[in-house]
Amino acid sequence: MKVSIASDHAGFEEKELLKPYLAQLGHEVIDRGPDSDERVDYPDFAELVAKDVVSGEADRGVLVCGTGIGMAVAANKVDGIRAANVTSPEFAQLAREHNDANVVTVSGRFVSDEVNRAIVKAFLETDFAGGRHAGRVAKIMALE
Ligand code: RB5
Repeated sequence: MKVSIASDHAGFEEKELLKPYLAQLGHEVIDRGPDSDERVDYPDFAELVAKDVVSGEADRGVLVCGTGIGMAVAANKVDGIRAANVTSPEFAQLAREHNDANVVTVSGRFVSDEVNRAIVKAFLETDFAGGRHAGRVAKIMALE
């Protein structure tokens, strides 16, 4: 799978840890920055990953900031994005099964690297369940 990833300064270190892990899982990683932990604005990086996913340049997106919240709020402003801010692998699985999330946002400050690894693994390996969830997701998209 092609995975576009980005962070802000608060998520930079975790982004750098997740990149080789994603590659180890067999995914192709597109790193949209930043290249250092210098202070940046997370919406700029959320936009890059969101546009990769919507354009088809990437299959899924991963965004890391201090909490993951700002990244989710920003990414969800881009039409076609269903970004879920997730703090456990179980929620990552449900975000895929029920919500067909195409971007996951995680916390670099409050969630461990070990848990974030489990989150992105679950996010990338779980299919949308469809069925009764399909109509609900269609209603979400109709809100755009
Ligand atoms: C940066 O200080 C912080 O606000 C940002 O990383 C993120 O947590 C916002 O939601």
